Amino acid sequence: MVHTQLTTYTCTHHDTSYERQRHRPSSPDIPSPRHAQQQQVTPSPSPFSFSFRTHTSTISATTSSRRAMATAAAAKRLEGKTVVITGASSGIGRSTAFEFARTAPRHGLRLILTARRVDALKQIAADIAKETDGGVAVLPVRLDVSSPEEVRGFVGGLPEEWRDIHVLVNNAGLVKGVAKAPEIAEDDMNVMFATNVTGLINMTQVVLPIFLARPDGGAGDVINVGSIAGREPYPGGGIYCATKAAVRSFTETLRKELIATRVRVIEVDPGQVETEFSLVRFSGDKAKADKVYEGCDPLTPEDIAEVVVFAATRRENVVVADTLVFPNHQASALIMHRKTS
Ligand SMILES: NC(=O)c1ccc[n+]([C@@H]2O[C@H](COP(=O)([O-])OP(=O)(O)OC[C@H]3O[C@@H](n4cnc5c(N)ncnc54)[C@H](OP(=O)(O)O)[C@@H]3O)[C@@H](O)[C@H]2O)c1
Repeated sequence: MVHTQLTTYTCTHHDTSYERQRHRPSSPDIPSPRHAQQQQVTPSPSPFSFSFRTHTSTISATTSSRRAMATAAAAKRLEGKTVVITGASSGIGRSTAFEFARTAPRHGLRLILTARRVDALKQIAADIAKETDGGVAVLPVRLDVSSPEEVRGFVGGLPEEWRDIHVLVNNAGLVKGVAKAPEIAEDDMNVMFATNVTGLINMTQVVLPIFLARPDGGAGDVINVGSIAGREPYPGGGIYCATKAAVRSFTETLRKELIATRVRVIEVDPGQVETEFSLVRFSGDKAKADKVYEGCDPLTPEDIAEVVVFAATRRENVVVADTLVFPNHQASALIMHRKTS
């Protein structure tokens, strides 16, 4: 009975009316979960065993109904939206693409996946199309965010029906080497700043006008992937840490500048995540990359993707402004507990 009653909460077209329905405990026709629970408890000759079992099954029915409602609400909030993910060819960006698709597989969601390795993007697009039975449209776009010219032409180069962007996930980024001053290669310095900072800012600047053209000051989500490195610089990470500190600073500025709009500015800062990140840092040296994770149980890119999609699927009035996500063994950029065998 509880299950039936709770699932009669239908998603109306407007997000807010859905929320109003959810939070209307005194409505005579839609019982609150607590009200439903009270109705479920009936006297019995064997009060302990019967009531206990009834109570347990009621709680589990309520919990699963709540979960189903939350999942349905998240999917509904992505309905008809277009999401751009930079750096979607591997790691966190790739997982974020799958997470969006899995959250709203039948809601007219469009994903624009960008990176330099377009073959990898095409494979991801094919996998998502297969998994969602074509329910999510995916457009792979070759884009080097470190090239201001390419970024400038990005929106104009999209097919017309893909230009109404609602969510921008600025994820593309990289680290090169562990050199300390004065040994830092100029090329490494330039590529890190051009990708992690200028690239992210340029992407934001080309997409923001689309957000700001919407009513009530504009609407949309800018989700920037920062890093613990932006909060806590460490030796050997002078440039990478500086780029992520710049991302943090730009993100906070943007949130303040857009205060009178409905644009949400969100930052997700991962700790240690096992992706191609360390492989890139050590120029493809797998042994050195593996050493980074030795004795550790790092986060998976899916862990971060879940946080990104969670932030994008809250009620419009909820801004998950800032998150720092560590694996359990990590307490700062350099404080890691490593198991020795
Ligand atoms: N892994 C970690 O421990 C960790 C921790 C904190 C923060 N982060 C951040 O998380 C983000 C994603 O990194 P990841 O860990 O998922 O690493 P990853 O597996 O190496 O993925 C990086 C992505 O960025 C793309 N990219 C790099 N340079 C680009 C450029 N010039 N133009 C367009 N795309 C570019 C790469 O695609 P192409 O090579 O195909 O262009 C790739 O898809 C980065 O911003 C990184 O700083 C990672």
